[in-house]
Amino acid sequence: MNEKIAVIGGGQMGSQIAALAAMAGYETSLYDENEENLEYRYKFVEENIKNLIDKKIYSEDKLDAYKKNLELKFTLEEVIHEKSFVIEAVVEKFDVKLEIFKKISSLMNDEVVMATNSSFIQASELSIHCNHPERFINMHFFYPPIRMDLVEISYPENVSKVILERTKNVSKNMGRSVVVLKKETPGFIVNRMLAALVDEAYELYDEGIADFEDIDIAIKKGLNHPLGPFELSDYSGLDIHYYAKLKKFKESGSSEDKPKKFLEEKVLNGDLGVKTGKGFYEYKKD
Ligand SMILES: NC(=O)c1ccc[n+]([C@@H]2O[C@H](COP(=O)([O-])OP(=O)(O)OC[C@H]3O[C@@H](n4cnc5c(N)ncnc54)[C@H](O)[C@@H]3O)[C@@H](O)[C@H]2O)c1
Repeated sequence: MNEKIAVIGGGQMGSQIAALAAMAGYETSLYDENEENLEYRYKFVEENIKNLIDKKIYSEDKLDAYKKNLELKFTLEEVIHEKSFVIEAVVEKFDVKLEIFKKISSLMNDEVVMATNSSFIQASELSIHCNHPERFINMHFFYPPIRMDLVEISYPENVSKVILERTKNVSKNMGRSVVVLKKETPGFIVNRMLAALVDEAYELYDEGIADFEDIDIAIKKGLNHPLGPFELSDYSGLDIHYYAKLKKFKESGSSEDKPKKFLEEKVLNGDLGVKTGKGFYEYKKD
């Protein structure tokens, strides 16, 4: 099927997921409620693609495809108009995502795939409140999507096989390796493994056992990881970690799941990592 793709949420993930779709040749539209941010991201991704062409990672025609196939839209109604495949990538807040899916699942036709790029919220948590629950699926990309070669797919039991196949096709056409989980689980494979590492790193820091810079050095040198857990948190966004932890805490009530105070302070202060110029480390905004 020749999909027409709508991406909702044009932050660091959505802007690049839309770029992947456009570069794969799909007619794509991208919407964010913050117009200024959307335009900034569009140019930022364009520069990234040029860099990747200079490094011979992408061929030159990818830039043309990005410009030709991607349109920015400024309302939810416009972005989904005549689209067959929606990928939601707004902020990791359940209520915000649910409001969007309730709206679009009532507006769109019976063929549409409703995919969420959420890091921790499972498709079934959203679909049970919406029309057409059999069309909801998790399609989990990695930051930065135009570089990271993986999509994790997971789906509620009642999802139709056609929806799964179409999601696999789109992911593969975007040039991404695909893994399909056999059961839903918050965090999928990678974030479940990563959460264990990051939780322990935060615990070590909280107990005053080492500075976060030294924990990062230890993990990079001792385990040969390219980034330490605090650098990685800054790259993915401290809000993602905070809201995921908060969700888990609300569900379990266990003090072990409570977000660390230092993390909460940073998030409430707007220090979200690379995207805001400051997280655990400081970054120059380009
Ligand atoms: N950052 C990562 O490493 C990573 C990796 C995989 C998945 N994810 C998931 O991707 C999603 C987005 O994360 P991100 O890192 O791009 O965050 P981000 O903060 O960069 O972008 C979120 C965007 O959502 C927009 N937004 C908020 N409410 C909206 C609404 N009602 N309508 C339209 N736009 C709205 C914001 O303006 C912002 O541009 C989250 O669900 C996150 O869990 C993130």
